Parts: sequence; structure tokens; C-alpha cells
Amino acid sequence: MNVVDPNNINLLLNRQSNPVLTEPAPEQDHLQLILSAGMRVPDHGGLQPWHFTIAQEEGLERLSTIFVSAAKKNNAHQIKLDKVAKMPSRAPLIIIVSTKFKEHIKVPQQEQLITAGCCVHSMQMAAYALGYGAMWRTGELSYNNLVKEYLNIENSEEIVGFLYIGTIAKQLPQKRSKDPQDCTSYL
Ligand SMILES: Cc1cc2nc3c(=O)[nH]c(=O)nc-3n(C[C@H](O)[C@H](O)[C@H](O)COP(=O)(O)O)c2cc1C
Repeated sequence: MNVVDPNNINLLLNRQSNPVLTEPAPEQDHLQLILSAGMRVPDHGGLQPWHFTIAQEEGLERLSTIFVSAAKKNNAHQIKLDKVAKMPSRAPLIIIVSTKFKEHIKVPQQEQLITAGCCVHSMQMAAYALGYGAMWRTGELSYNNLVKEYLNIENSEEIVGFLYIGTIAKQLPQKRSKDPQDCTSYL
């Protein structure tokens, strides 16, 4: 019989996002654990079709500048520029997960995109397991080619998520569990 650690299943059943994040960011050893969890995803063909770009401290300021520059090129008005400038300050650590597509006869890009998405989820779970809060965000700037260019991400790649991580500033009420019945059928 399997020995079951109830903490493992509770972690999965109770996970939720938290957008209200503050200092301190995960320390170096915790960051390494989070990144290692991101490396542990299901990966058809072992292609590692992902890349992690880490923004902390000055990196967050650079990300703010990137967002503003990209929005300016899109003729955004001042209210929008102010809004995008502040986005990176919503957490003390952001991990940007992008694809790094590989040519493979059996593994289409669609699968590689899913794998990169698993990286975000896995790192969010790791952050949660270590006691931090985290929130997966995208938004229009994820699909902006200038943002990609400024982040050294090829146009042909996808930004699958900005994973905001930090210390929970406000504990949110636990969301109620959703019933799987509506999304499940049996053959
Ligand atoms: C690919 C992806 C992109 C997302 N982008 C955003 C976003 O830009 N802004 C946002 O508020 N939530 C976004 N979300 C949703 C949140 O991460 C979160 O899942 C949602 O608020 C529900 O909260 P929960 O994770 O606690 O169930 C995104 C989720 C995914 C999977």
C-alpha cells in the first residue's frame, strides 16, 4: 500500500493565487527550489522548451521601462503608461516564462507550449509550498513583440506568463472547491 502524505494532496486541493504581494522576495535558496520545480515538468522528448527570465530589484525597474516603452510605441495615453509602469511593482520577484521551441518530429509546438505553461504552474505551486504567494499573469503586453524584443525573446516564441511571487500581504479567504462533476464524463 502507498504511504500517503496528506500535505501533498492538501497542497494541490487548496492552492490559490494571491495578487497582494510584498517584500521579502524568496531568498536565493528558495528561488533555486522554485526554479528547480519549474524544471521538473512533464516534457515530451526532454526538449526543455522554456526559458525563465528573472526580474528582481533593478530588474523590476527595467521591466517597468520595457512596458512603458512598448506601450508608448502603441500610442498609449498617459493613464495607460502610468498603469503599465506600476505593474512590475506588484511583487518583489517576477519570473517571466517564455517558450524555447525546438524542432522535433513527434513533438509539435502546441505540446511544447503546454509544457512551458506547466513550468508556470509548477513554480507557482513551489512558491505556495514554501509559504509565498504567487499570481500568474499575462495581459496584452505578453503578446507584444516589442516587449519580447526588449526581453531578448524571439518574435517566434511565446511569453506564457509573468509569475509574480512574494510574501503574502493580505491573506484572502479560502475559495470554495469546485465540483469536478460538470467537467467530467466516464467512458
Ligand atoms: C495563462 C494565464 C494567464 C492569466 N493572466 C491573468 C492576468 O493577466 N490577470 C489576472 O488577473 N489573472 C490572470 N490569470 C488568472 C490568475 O492567475 C488566477 O488563476 C485567477 O485569478 C484565479 O485565481 P486562482 O488561481 O486562485 O483560482 C491568468 C491565468 C492563466 C492560466
